[in-house]
Amino acid sequence: MCGIVGYIGHRDASPVLLEGLHRLEYRGYDSAGIAVPHRGRPRVHKAAVRVAELRDRLQTPMPGRIGIAHTRWATHGEATDVNAHPHLDASGRIAVVHNGIIENAEALREQLTGRGVTLVSDTDTEAIAHLIAAALDEGANSSLEDAVRSALGAVDGTYGLVVLDARRPEELVVARNGSPIVLGIGDGEMFIASDLAALVRYTQRVVYLDDGELATVRAGAFQTSSLQANTLQADRAAKTPTTVSLEAEDYELGEFADFMRKEIYEQPEAVRRALRGRLDDRFATTHLGGLNMDARQLREIRRVKFLGCGSAYYAGQIGANLVEELARIPADAEPASEFRYRNPVIDSDTLYVAISQSGETADTLAAVQELQRKGGQVIGVVNAVGSAIARECGRGIFLHAGPEVSVASTKAVTTMSLSFALLGALLGRVRDLSTANGKRLVAGLRALPERIEQILALEEEIAAAAREYAHASHMFFIGRVRGWPVAREGAQKLKEISYIHAEAYQAAELKHGPLALIDETMPSVVIVPDDELFTKNIGTIEQIRARGGPIIAITNAELPADLADTVIRIPGNEPELDPILLGIPLQLFAYHLALKLGRDIDKPRNLAKSVTVE
Ligand code: AGP
Repeated sequence: MCGIVGYIGHRDASPVLLEGLHRLEYRGYDSAGIAVPHRGRPRVHKAAVRVAELRDRLQTPMPGRIGIAHTRWATHGEATDVNAHPHLDASGRIAVVHNGIIENAEALREQLTGRGVTLVSDTDTEAIAHLIAAALDEGANSSLEDAVRSALGAVDGTYGLVVLDARRPEELVVARNGSPIVLGIGDGEMFIASDLAALVRYTQRVVYLDDGELATVRAGAFQTSSLQANTLQADRAAKTPTTVSLEAEDYELGEFADFMRKEIYEQPEAVRRALRGRLDDRFATTHLGGLNMDARQLREIRRVKFLGCGSAYYAGQIGANLVEELARIPADAEPASEFRYRNPVIDSDTLYVAISQSGETADTLAAVQELQRKGGQVIGVVNAVGSAIARECGRGIFLHAGPEVSVASTKAVTTMSLSFALLGALLGRVRDLSTANGKRLVAGLRALPERIEQILALEEEIAAAAREYAHASHMFFIGRVRGWPVAREGAQKLKEISYIHAEAYQAAELKHGPLALIDETMPSVVIVPDDELFTKNIGTIEQIRARGGPIIAITNAELPADLADTVIRIPGNEPELDPILLGIPLQLFAYHLALKLGRDIDKPRNLAKSVTVE
C-alpha cells in the first residue's frame, strides 16, 4: 500500500526522502514522487516508476532541508504520472501526500470545480490540497495546522497525510485518521513516515499519532492536537516518545537474495524470542503477561473467536483448533474482513482475538472497533509494536517475530500459531489440562526452534521437489482437522508468490465434488500429521492415486513405501503442535517453485504487504 516519508532538519531532504521511499518499497506501489520547496513553491518530481528510476531522473539537485515523498498504490485514478503524489493546490503552494481513501472525494471535487478550481488529477488526494489552500486564503493569518484541521473537517474517509506549505518551509503538518503515521525524533531534525522501516536508520525514538490527531512538526520540536477541536480548544501537547528496538539492519537482506527466504530462516530465532519468559516449568503452563488477565478471568471465558485476514485468518484457524483441543473451550476463526458487515452478535463471555502482523490491516482494525463499540473483550495478537491494532486493543500477545518485509508472511504466521499454542496451554491449565500434558506441551514448545532448524536443513530436498511441479497450472492442498488450516496457508503461499492456482480442500470433502478434477495434471499436496487421523489421511491419498493424481506428502510420520510421488518428511513433536511445523516446508515449497518460475518473490504482482484500505 502507499508509503509516506517526510523530513525537516539540517540534512539535505531529498536523499533522506528517497532512501525512506526505498525502505517502503516492500509495501507495494505503482508510482513515486517527492516535493522539496524552492523559492516559495514546491518542486515536485513524480512518475509511475520505481523509486530507483525516480532517483535516476532527479538529475538536477533538489536542495532544501524540508520535503515530503510518497509511494502510491492506485485507488482513485489509474497509476499515471499525474495521479502520483505529491498533489498541489492550484496556486502551487501546498503539497500533500496521502495514504487512505477519501470517501466523499467526488462531492468535494464537484464543489471545488463549482468554485472554479481546475483539478488536474483523478485522485481523491488533490481535493485536500485545494481545500487547505482555500482555508489558508479564507483565514489570512491562520496557521497551516488550523487550515489543515478546517479542510479535513469537510473530508470523510481515512487518511494519513503530510502537508507542506512552500511559503512556510519551517514546518510540516501531519494528520491521521485510519492510516498510520509515525514521527521519528532526531537531534534537531524530525522524520515522518507511514512505517518505521523508513526511519529506523536515523532514529529509534518515535511517536505514533493516534486516529483523530494532528501534529505540527518543526526541526527541533513537534506538537500534537485533536483534529476535532477548533483553534481555541485544541489541546496542544507533545506526546512522550517511545524507543523502538528495531535497527536499520532488520530491514536489510544481508547474505540473502530476498526477504522471504531471509525471514523463513529467521524463524528459529523468532520462535526463541516469542517463547522467552513465557514457559513455566514449575506449574507446567505458560505466561502471557500482556493479556492482563488473572486465573479467575481466564476461567470466565466461555468461547474464543479468532479474527484476521488472509494468512492471519488461517493462523487463527490453527488457534481455534489449539484452544478447543487444549482448553476444551469452543473456538472458531472468522475472516475479519467480513465481521463488521454482518452485524455480529457480541457475547461478553467470549474472548475475541484480533490477529495481525502489521497491526494496520484496515479490515482487522475495523473488526476491533466494531467489537469495542459493542463492548466485546478483544486482545491483539500483533507483530508491530505501536501499531493501530496493538494500541486499540491495549492488551494481547506480541509476536516478537521482528520486522517482516516480504509480502508473503512466514515468520509472523509461525509465531501467530505459536502464540495460540501458548494461549491454549494457558487456558487449558486453568481448566482441565493435566500437569502431565502441560509438561509435555511446554517441552514440545521449547523444542520448536531446534525442530525448525532441522526442517530448514531439508531445503535442498524441498527445492528439488518444488522444481518438479513448476509446470503445474493448478494444485490441490489437502488437510484434515489439524492439517486443514496448514493446507489453506500452504495454498495461500503458493498462489501469492508463484501465481499458480492452488486450492485447499478438507480431505473428507474431496469425494463430495473436487475429486472430479483429479487426473495426472493435478498434483495434490497432502498434509499427513502423525496423529490419530493418520490412516484416514492415507485413505485420502489412495483415493487421489487411484485417479492418477500426483501426490506430494508433507508429513512427520513414516509413510508406506511408494504411496506418494514425493515425500517431505520433517521431524515430529507433540501432535497438537504439528501445524506449527508442518507449515514450514510449505513455505520453502512455494518459495522454490516461485523462484523456478522467475517470480518477483518479495513483491508479488497486485499485492501489498500492509493492506491499510478496505
Ligand atoms: C500473507 O502471506 C499475506 N500477504 C496476507 O494474507 C496477510 O496475511 C494479510 O493481508 C493480513 O496481514 P496482517 O497480518 O498484517 O494483518
